[in-house]
Amino acid sequence: MTQPWPYPRVFAHRGGGAFAPENTLAAMREGADRGFRGVEFDVKLSADGEPFLLHDDTLERTTSGNGPAVSRTWAELARLDAGSWHSPRFAGEPLVRLEAIARALRARAIAANVEIKPCPGRDAETGAAVARACAALWHGAPEPPLLSSFSVEALHAARAAAPQLPLGILFEPGEIPPDWPHLLATLGAQALHAWFEDLTPTCVEAAHHAGLRVFAYTVNTAADADRLLQMGVDSLCTDRLDLIGPGGTPPPG
Ligand code: G3P
Ligand code: MG
Repeated sequence: MTQPWPYPRVFAHRGGGAFAPENTLAAMREGADRGFRGVEFDVKLSADGEPFLLHDDTLERTTSGNGPAVSRTWAELARLDAGSWHSPRFAGEPLVRLEAIARALRARAIAANVEIKPCPGRDAETGAAVARACAALWHGAPEPPLLSSFSVEALHAARAAAPQLPLGILFEPGEIPPDWPHLLATLGAQALHAWFEDLTPTCVEAAHHAGLRVFAYTVNTAADADRLLQMGVDSLCTDRLDLIGPGGTPPPG
């Protein structure tokens, strides 16, 4: 049976793509205000176990802090500026907890692709904590958050902690293994999340034949988005909210 897929065709990558500081509330607002009905974002754990949004293992690229994120408590992280690196308009924008993002997205009926992005060595702990938090935060929501990760260990822990939530396995560029359908089946995953250039019609057909879905990352031209959606890709994410609209066609204007 084909897995249900209550998700939009296009997700804004890291919340607001290139147009706001990634993985912040400001980014979610940017995506939502541009009409996107789905956002992708990255979640890891603070030293004291709080799920919060951050892409890198370290703080310097996207915050006023530095060093490994894994060694900071949420109270320390909450004091950092996660907006100034992007542009002066976003100066003072803070890091955000998963809980606050969930509330904001549910209030606007926006779907979430929660990428579990563990700090080094915390894969299972992060997978379990993020999945447990998502199950509680999205309880009763019309569409559950779609959990994904490059870490199979994190996904196994997520599956055990919240068996009801859909999972996608992310593969690095050029690294979809030949036995990917078996890997997805072993995990009970619903979706293959692949670097967009790795996807072929044969691969998409094989996924659909097996009842699975396909999510392409990160697609930044309208031509690629059109090609992939024609190919049958179920959803994709983009940084270029100006070139690729919420439905996959170029946005108006
Ligand atoms: O989930 C798709 C994409 O976000 C994976 O790569 O590095 O942007 O998190 P990255
Ligand atoms: Mg991501």
